[in-house]
Amino acid sequence: METVVKFICQNGQEVTLRPAAPEDARQIIDTINSVAQERSYILTDKFKKSEIEERDYIATLDTEKNLLLVAEVDGQVIGGLGAHQASSGRHFKTAHVCEVGLHLIKPYREQGIGSKMLEYAIEWAKAKGYKKLDACIFTSNKRSLNLFRKFGFVVEGKRMKQFRIGNEYIDEVIMGKIL
Ligand SMILES: CC(C)(COP(=O)(O)OP(=O)(O)OC[C@H]1O[C@@H](n2cnc3c(N)ncnc32)[C@H](O)[C@@H]1OP(=O)(O)O)[C@@H](O)C(=O)NCCC(=O)NCCS
Repeated sequence: METVVKFICQNGQEVTLRPAAPEDARQIIDTINSVAQERSYILTDKFKKSEIEERDYIATLDTEKNLLLVAEVDGQVIGGLGAHQASSGRHFKTAHVCEVGLHLIKPYREQGIGSKMLEYAIEWAKAKGYKKLDACIFTSNKRSLNLFRKFGFVVEGKRMKQFRIGNEYIDEVIMGKIL
């Protein structure tokens, strides 16, 4: 498969999807922190690693089993997707499963970019021999639930009150797709 994908999103801008490079570390941290501050979509409240640690992580990532994808517009990272071998590949029994999560900063949502990123990850996971993709989503995140449903993920279960946002408890939806 092509590792660099370019397309025009719904607002007419050109978007590039490509594997992350160590030099992207700062911008990846900034986009994750920007989504984290919204408090509604991802587990992270604040990115835990330093820029140097993130650089090292990207530089040493086993890309045969893991994907760190960035979406870029005009040289700026606007979002990312992570697809990682379940249990960090420690167990043979789950080595065929890949866990996927993605995010876009606010101005770039609902323009078809998340769909292209997930499509990329599905093709990548198939090419790497994975048999299953997993995703965990807040039950309140209708856009994300619809995105995964659109690509053939099905709801496998729910964990009640798995997350706390302020004083509100939110269920976790576990979705999976057999490849
Ligand atoms: C979730 C996210 C990655 C989706 O990417 P996106 O580019 O916004 O989504 P797309 O434009 O590709 O739309 C994908 C599907 O989502 C659904 N969708 C889009 N907007 C929606 C809305 N306002 N309400 C409900 N569903 C919606 C549709 O099914 C759409 O497919 P369609 O346009 O073919 O009908 C992105 O919105 C995002 O980063 N949100 C914040 C972080 C987050 O939620 N991450 C996921 C954590 S599990």
